[in-house]
Amino acid sequence: MRPCLWLWHEGGMSKASHTFTCTACGASHKKWNGQCDACMAWNTLVEESPLSAGPKGPVAKGRTIPLTDLATQAEAPPRAASGMAELDRVLGGGLVAASAILVGGDPGIGKSTLLLQAVAAFARAGLKCMYVSGEEAAAQVQMRAQRLGLQDAHVQLGAETNLRDILTTLDRERPALAVIDSIQTMWLDSIESAPGSVSQVRAAAHELVTFAKKRGVSVILVGHVTKDGQIAGPRVVEHMVDTVLYFEGERGHQFRILRAVKNRFGPADEIGVFEMTGAGLAEVSNPSALFLSDREKATPGSAVFAGIEGTRPVLTEIQALVAPSTLGTPRRTVVGIDGGRLSTILAVLEARVGISFAGLDVFLNVAGGLRVNEPAADLAIAGAILSAREDVAIPPDMVLFGEISLSGALRPVGQTENRLKEASKLGFTQAIAPRLSKYTQSSGIRLREMPDLTAFVGEMFGAG
Ligand code: TYD
Ligand code: MG
Repeated sequence: MRPCLWLWHEGGMSKASHTFTCTACGASHKKWNGQCDACMAWNTLVEESPLSAGPKGPVAKGRTIPLTDLATQAEAPPRAASGMAELDRVLGGGLVAASAILVGGDPGIGKSTLLLQAVAAFARAGLKCMYVSGEEAAAQVQMRAQRLGLQDAHVQLGAETNLRDILTTLDRERPALAVIDSIQTMWLDSIESAPGSVSQVRAAAHELVTFAKKRGVSVILVGHVTKDGQIAGPRVVEHMVDTVLYFEGERGHQFRILRAVKNRFGPADEIGVFEMTGAGLAEVSNPSALFLSDREKATPGSAVFAGIEGTRPVLTEIQALVAPSTLGTPRRTVVGIDGGRLSTILAVLEARVGISFAGLDVFLNVAGGLRVNEPAADLAIAGAILSAREDVAIPPDMVLFGEISLSGALRPVGQTENRLKEASKLGFTQAIAPRLSKYTQSSGIRLREMPDLTAFVGEMFGAG
């Protein structure tokens, strides 16, 4: 990527000391190459300055480290709640002292807005908080705070990119929480490469995480995500921190999802739902109602999936469109669902039920901009595409869930009770689920259990 930098170093250092790191997968190479041998990505190798080798000469003798045993564990880490319920839940019940958190997301998705609101909420809850912006001037942040009605919160604000100065300041102030927005703008004078490069991001994150652990300061690092969905400065930062949160959503939609993808102090896969408004991010405590609010009832191609996101049931509408294709290879377009999952379901429908999608374009979409990763969505996906293909609407008061196996059988999924309860709360009265779904009658929903896809197709769409 930077051949000029490489040449520039040529004169000063021995060639052997260079390494080139792939920004996509983190693999390191001895030589620069157009393509990464490990992940086959193109133009992702960047030059890194070598890690300092320590003092030369005889190997310095290390000191012995103090050891304990497993029984001398401290009790559960103390947590501080911000009062923003959606945020606290994603953190696993509040902010753990001396923890390091990474919040990643596309530029412009609302990370700075979220964290300014969060830091103000923690400050109002009594924590000493600091917000350091490397992207905006203090005046800009203050203007935003004013617009969001946060100017009275006691947050120490700094605008700086020199990490050495930031660490010195943090050491003097010792806040309970420091937000660093963003890790890509931070630079250490001891590292030669430019801010935002892999080695700078790695070193800056390392310094901050080490500082957090040593001094008992919780740090939240903001990280921009690259086009292909990875936090720039590869996955290295993710390994260093305790918690990784992604802030995601479609640019055109007002919904934003804060998703825990790793959490040493709580369940991963938990989500918090927010809505971007003129006055910042508003918490959405009942996401199902919001995700279903635009639903046109009794339209062919629409199915409601009763899903579980983290510890909470969430209903979403899955929309499909099936149309004759003008292309040799028909289109398979997905938004919010894994494309491989759609291909599998189409193949199972063809091989096990005898319903072919040859010559038909299939478009699939999760309404509202949510990403659905649960295998339990299979049945709702199949329902939506069959409904679109047959031009028969699924009853508007019905929810679907269940995993489809390659044999065409429906496999039971967890938390049937929770799914049905949420559906009942939103006015649904019937559900189709796999056989052997564990449940009792309490939810007031008429549940029909089906053994396989053939039975499902027969029941919903006649013989198929
Ligand atoms: P920002 O937090 O700056 O994004 P990031 O830090 O992830 O790059 O958010 C930028 C977007 O949010 C911008 O397009 C405007 C929008 N926004 C609102 O809609 N309402 C608001 O109250 C604020 C502060 C921002
Ligand atoms: Mg920002």
